[in-house]
Amino acid sequence: MCGIVAYIGKKQALPIIINGLKKLEYRGYDSAGVAVVSESGIAIRKKAGKVADLERLLAVNGFDKTSTVGFGHTRWATHGEPNDLNAHPIYDDDQEIIVIHNGIIENYNSLKIRLEREGYIFRTETDTECLVHLIRSHFKNTDNFETSVRLALNEVEGAYGICVLCKSEPGKIIAARNGSPLVLGVGEKEFILASDATAIIPHTRQVVYLLDGEMVTVTCDNFSIKTIGDEKIERALEEITFDLEQIEKGGYEHFMHKEICEQPESIMNTLRGRIRKDNGLVKLGGLTNVVDKLAFAKRIIITACGTAWHAGLVGEYMIEQMCRIPVEVEYASEFRYRDPIVYPGDSMFVISQSGETADTRAALKEAKKRGADVYGIVNVVGSTIARETDAGIYTHAGPEIGVASTKAFTSQLTGLALISLLIAQHKSLMPPNEIKKITDELLRIPDKIKMILDQSDKIKEIAKVFKFCQHMLYLGRGYNFPVALEGALKLKEISYIHAEGYPAAEMKHGPIALIDANMPVIVIAPKDSTYDKIISNIREVKARKGVVISISDEHNTDIDEYSDYSIKIPSTCKFLSPILTTIPLQLFAYNLAVLRGCNVDQPRNLAKSVTVE
Ligand code: F6R
Repeated sequence: MCGIVAYIGKKQALPIIINGLKKLEYRGYDSAGVAVVSESGIAIRKKAGKVADLERLLAVNGFDKTSTVGFGHTRWATHGEPNDLNAHPIYDDDQEIIVIHNGIIENYNSLKIRLEREGYIFRTETDTECLVHLIRSHFKNTDNFETSVRLALNEVEGAYGICVLCKSEPGKIIAARNGSPLVLGVGEKEFILASDATAIIPHTRQVVYLLDGEMVTVTCDNFSIKTIGDEKIERALEEITFDLEQIEKGGYEHFMHKEICEQPESIMNTLRGRIRKDNGLVKLGGLTNVVDKLAFAKRIIITACGTAWHAGLVGEYMIEQMCRIPVEVEYASEFRYRDPIVYPGDSMFVISQSGETADTRAALKEAKKRGADVYGIVNVVGSTIARETDAGIYTHAGPEIGVASTKAFTSQLTGLALISLLIAQHKSLMPPNEIKKITDELLRIPDKIKMILDQSDKIKEIAKVFKFCQHMLYLGRGYNFPVALEGALKLKEISYIHAEGYPAAEMKHGPIALIDANMPVIVIAPKDSTYDKIISNIREVKARKGVVISISDEHNTDIDEYSDYSIKIPSTCKFLSPILTTIPLQLFAYNLAVLRGCNVDQPRNLAKSVTVE
């Protein structure tokens, strides 16, 4: 979603802002803009399209490149179409107050009506503009920039991460957050504010994470944090732990491809230090204090969105089978609107790569309000969900820049396997040698993924055959039903081919009507207890002239007879099978999207981290 980068210090602000915006491009956006303090006021340029379009605009019209104070924004449209006018920064007619904003102002309409009555003229279709005029109206009364921002924010309902410049107090940037992340990077007499740490890391590792309801006033010498209720906040600096190389493409054409190929390593990072060398049992520091509670939970709720929700579905199978605890998996976006039944002491796992997804946060809040204990399975260290949960684990997959989630998903599955094993071992439901068998297998998974990655060329050749197809069906059973959903989602989001995932046996209850020679069907069929049934499903597809691409265990050749194309993967236990079966589906979707000329890292209309509900 929208990205913010602001700089104040001794260096030229513009290149730092532009480079920062490029680092945030992965979040998804449709227009971009900048504002810098110049001798004659505040210079602003904005443009629909990409940061590169903005750069071209800046190059042709002699924009002030010497300024040391300014900010930039990439906008993902919510109110008003993505055109030059609605691009941020948004400002008043005198260019006194200039705002960039992530999020949605929910009481926009009532504020607008009031401000129009006061004589303010709205020039854009954005909700942000009411914030501009609101701050301006307080500035007219108080003549104090900081007070005006604070008073305005007290009147605003909704989600925001904002940065504000004021022509009359040009050596200052004020930023605030409520629901949309903002991080302040603290360097040597320079400060960088950004929506996430990826834009900050080239400059400093020292950061302060702003919390909801906080605002920070930054000059080139110092910064001070207050709540929007005007209470002073002291906050220690934290250190960013990931490296610059992790957010670069490192020789790959796309981040998505890099992240697919990184999975042997990212999964190892999820496992690191969590399997005891002496006996193969699981230890998870983040859950040590709550494992007893989890082990005796009457039920566990898992909530998440999108790919993370698919991980949750696999988690349901794992926890129910290994721990014998009933699990309910909820779309976070539905959870709080259906008056959910949550008993005090219920346990909820919240899964999120970014740790910032608005729907997931809302579900978390709702569950907490109703008395549940809430645990996180989160990738981004220090993110809002990681902070708002009572305990949990980090997946340590490293920064995921490609909009389509890949390595974060397999790390979520790995984390869920570890959690299930931990609970099962705590309840003594599985003997230690059984646990060890699975953890030994977990440690072999990275090498098995490498074997699948070695087949990239073959998968690319198969993808070529389907370059012009319009629909695709994904079938799987048991542990691999959620993988069918995930495979279909990957294909839809990056190649724009319509795809659907089904439990294989459901096909005969409806989707079979779609099968003909133009309907390719991907069948995930590892050799498990449902294998024979799935072979029958494949035969049903073949009988109707459907084209079958099968994914099954190596050495399992009988399936080839019924498959037009067959992809073989190493065998593993059923609990871990989805980690392997997902990989060829990621490679297939990636190659197909590239062949179709799609922008795989930034698919249309999508945002990496969905911070609005
Ligand atoms: C799909 C994808 C999304 C996210 C979803 C949740 O490839 O990336 O479906 O999984 O938006 O995001 P997080 O995990 O950041 O909460």
